[in-house]
Amino acid sequence: MKQKILVTGGTGYIGSHTTVELQNSGYDVVIVDNLSNSRIDVLDGIEKITGIRPEFEQFDLADQDMTDLFFKKQTDISAIIHFAAFKAVGESVENPLKYYRNNLFSLINLLECMTRYSTACLVFSSSCTVYGQPEILPVNENAPVQPAISPYGNTKQVSEEIIRDTLFVSGKLRAISLRYFNPVGAHPSSLIGELPIGVPNNLVPVITQTAIGIREQLKVFGSDYNTPDGSCIRDYIDVVDLAKAHVIAVKRLLEQKNRQALEFFNLGTGKGVSVFEVISTFEKATGVKVNYTVTGRRAGDVEQVWADTRLANSELGWKATTSLSETLRSAWNWEVYYRKYLEKSR
Ligand code: UFG
Repeated sequence: MKQKILVTGGTGYIGSHTTVELQNSGYDVVIVDNLSNSRIDVLDGIEKITGIRPEFEQFDLADQDMTDLFFKKQTDISAIIHFAAFKAVGESVENPLKYYRNNLFSLINLLECMTRYSTACLVFSSSCTVYGQPEILPVNENAPVQPAISPYGNTKQVSEEIIRDTLFVSGKLRAISLRYFNPVGAHPSSLIGELPIGVPNNLVPVITQTAIGIREQLKVFGSDYNTPDGSCIRDYIDVVDLAKAHVIAVKRLLEQKNRQALEFFNLGTGKGVSVFEVISTFEKATGVKVNYTVTGRRAGDVEQVWADTRLANSELGWKATTSLSETLRSAWNWEVYYRKYLEKSR
């Protein structure tokens, strides 16, 4: 019999790609999402790619009663991948309690239900933001967690602590916290991808929206950093590569191959790329020019960060394989496909 995985936030960007990979690997998926930052038609895309429509329930995991009711009904969940969370850094500074309520209450409710209903395995969606500006690059999992710059970042740090403390007393629960670097790109089918609602904050959606003419100009936030070309450096990881790591993490927990109750893994490519390099790689990969200008630094940006991926490579047997050109091409193809789709469905 197939094992069933609960994917919270499964209609979101990384959640939808992970659902595809789970289904392609023979797992059943039930998605819980309140659709606060995603669309229901993402399920159509998942179904077109995999031939399977995942089970779906729409409710807010920050609601304790609804979450309990869900677990009461769903008695066959083997593991949980918890993506559901708000993720806009700027908004979290404006409205911290919205972020603390949503991101922390949902995790607490899940952990309580895991204990109550004997679901042992959790994969948590964390971020390289926990490292702040690391002193040593590439940064590995033993680097100190730095004071968070934003409430969003703090929810990731506190969530990791909540998981650690809960596991310490439970004796039964097992978890893997996956620290993502910068997820970009879309499924090669162009049937699912990133769907920023409103003005995007992240670099790649701004590039694709500028290239297609929705935005007039990309603003490069600072060219006076202490980096070879003066712009910030990040580790851009293809979303399908990232999704595959979740399937491996789930399997590791289910087969009890984890060495400790709580493990941390960096998910990146191991390569640092500057903002200017992303723009030029995009232009070469797609043949489309991006209109950009350099402006001042963005508050809260770290100068440079990229991952030491050796632990994920050796322990998970996982490696990012998609080139940046390929992933930026997939982001562009998705942008083109999605704009056409929106026009048709108007
Ligand atoms: N950038 C621009 N112009 C833009 C948008 C971004 O120049 O319009 C630059 C940023 O200054 C940064 C780089 O592109 O140098 C990447 O920016 P993103 O916003 O795409 O990504 P961040 O690295 O800032 O943020 C990511 C995740 C966050 C997480 C953070 C932690 O999106 O969720 O890493 O470092 F908190």
